[in-house]
Amino acid sequence: MRVRVLGVGMGPQHVTPEVAAALRECDYVLAAEKHDDDGLLAARRAIADAHGVEVVTVRDPERDRDPLDYRRAVQDWHEARVAAYERVLRERAGTAGFLVWGDPSLYDSTIRIVDRLAERLPIDYDVLPGISAPQLLAARHRVVLHPVGQPVHLTTARRLADDLAAGQTNVCVMLTGSLDAALDRAGVEDWSIWWGANLGTDSEELLSGRVGDVRADLRAARDRAKAAAGWVMDVYLLRAPG
Ligand SMILES: C[S@@+](CC[C@H](N)C(=O)[O-])C[C@H]1O[C@@H](n2cnc3c(N)ncnc32)[C@H](O)[C@@H]1O
Repeated sequence: MRVRVLGVGMGPQHVTPEVAAALRECDYVLAAEKHDDDGLLAARRAIADAHGVEVVTVRDPERDRDPLDYRRAVQDWHEARVAAYERVLRERAGTAGFLVWGDPSLYDSTIRIVDRLAERLPIDYDVLPGISAPQLLAARHRVVLHPVGQPVHLTTARRLADDLAAGQTNVCVMLTGSLDAALDRAGVEDWSIWWGANLGTDSEELLSGRVGDVRADLRAARDRAKAAAGWVMDVYLLRAPG
């Protein structure tokens, strides 16, 4: 039994020759189905179809979106996913591919889930990289993610205010939630922002400038991306003045 964790970037145009070759060796692609109109599942299907590989879906277990214990809720959700995938892997055997949006190393549970599957099943698995949202953001804006010789801190909107309070001055934010609320809490009106939504898709939107100057434009651009695609995912780089 073999599992291949394949980063597919932000769409079919980012599938590397290495990932394409691995995908063609898969007997099937295993994918979670979140709900009937799942934009990312459609993107995975398009990639699998383009390489002639069948997609087997499992209904994604319900997740508690407002838990008292966030870590625990994520663990429970992972456990339910592991059980669902285990059933399919046992039934089918052969080589299964997981198509991971972006790169598997960033804010994605697939590697952790496959680690757990490997504790239960005799699985041999590997991971191939893809282009991540922060990489595409940097490329679109033609910027380096950090000032010369300085670090970039990668975080989520949920943690942003705390991370800035702890002294971070150059921060890339994913899992953005409500953009306005996160920027308000963070108090970053004078910071610079490089922002992108639905990167790599037809509904892509880009904006940059001083946060206080572009707030209204950000809101409008985010709404446009959502109206065009039916979903919106955004990522941004924030840098302190000076
Ligand atoms: C679950 S994480 C997956 C990240 C992914 N593994 C990667 O390498 O970029 C989803 C978050 O990534 C960012 N993201 C993913 N796709 C994006 C896109 N096409 N445009 C902008 N941001 C995106 C958003 O911050 C979103 O909330």
